[in-house]
Amino acid sequence: MSLSEDILRKEDLRSHLFGETWRNLIPEVFRDVPTYYDRGNAVASLGSCSWWSNTFAAAIHKHLPPGSKVLDVCSGTHDIPLRLLTLDPTLDIHTVDGSPHMTAEGQRRARERNLTIHAQVCDAHVLPFEDNSFDAVTLQFASRHLEIVKVFREIHRVLKPGGIFCHNDMLRPSSRVVEIPYLAFLRFSVWFTALLFGSSAESKKCVRYFADAIHHFYQPRELTEVLEGIGFTDVENDSFLTGVMSYHISRKPAA
Ligand SMILES: C[S@@+](CC[C@H](N)C(=O)[O-])C[C@H]1O[C@@H](n2cnc3c(N)ncnc32)[C@H](O)[C@@H]1O
Repeated sequence: MSLSEDILRKEDLRSHLFGETWRNLIPEVFRDVPTYYDRGNAVASLGSCSWWSNTFAAAIHKHLPPGSKVLDVCSGTHDIPLRLLTLDPTLDIHTVDGSPHMTAEGQRRARERNLTIHAQVCDAHVLPFEDNSFDAVTLQFASRHLEIVKVFREIHRVLKPGGIFCHNDMLRPSSRVVEIPYLAFLRFSVWFTALLFGSSAESKKCVRYFADAIHHFYQPRELTEVLEGIGFTDVENDSFLTGVMSYHISRKPAA
């Protein structure tokens, strides 16, 4: 399967609308948020974030034999690695993230729990790993800030044949009845969170961006199409409120 014209057009539009924000503002936002990130996420996800991430981690865990080598892309404060290591301490977990500040907070949390996570700071669009390196790659709550076709191709490259790609994010709800009030709520809550936690001027400039990025993002069915167009198979998808939160687990075909 290849990527449809609709998907390629949408990727071009996302890069055109948000490319400058991704390059210039997002790194500044993630300099600002490590200390209040969990609370901000809880508000933005209608309180479902932690419960849904646990559901996602449990679904990943079912596919992972002990000792699996896992890469978490855009790992931030290591939310998914910490959940997975709680379920199976034998996992060998590596991470990449563009923010030294989010990574430092994640490493602090890992040390606090006596856990080892191998972290690197780099851009997710060019992964610093050999082809066929990992049994699983995870990516949570970051795709809206990425050129996902480029990043998903990189993930496909570094996965071993038969390896799994586990993706979780706030997608565009497929129901307009959900999308319209949800995005209105998000605009208000991001503005309120920025005010409450005294966010930087850069974070305040992103208040509209967060809701706009979801409006121009993929619905759960479209994300399945992106994955299949890149070459992943056996796509498993589960969503909360038609995409407010949605995870996909897919496989790189065995050689
Ligand atoms: C909303 S946080 C999610 C963190 C974590 N995955 C989680 O579930 O809590 C998004 C993360 O993506 C990272 N990020 C955004 N754009 C990136 C890029 N181009 N390359 C690498 N990391 C990036 C940010 O630094 C931030 O830590």
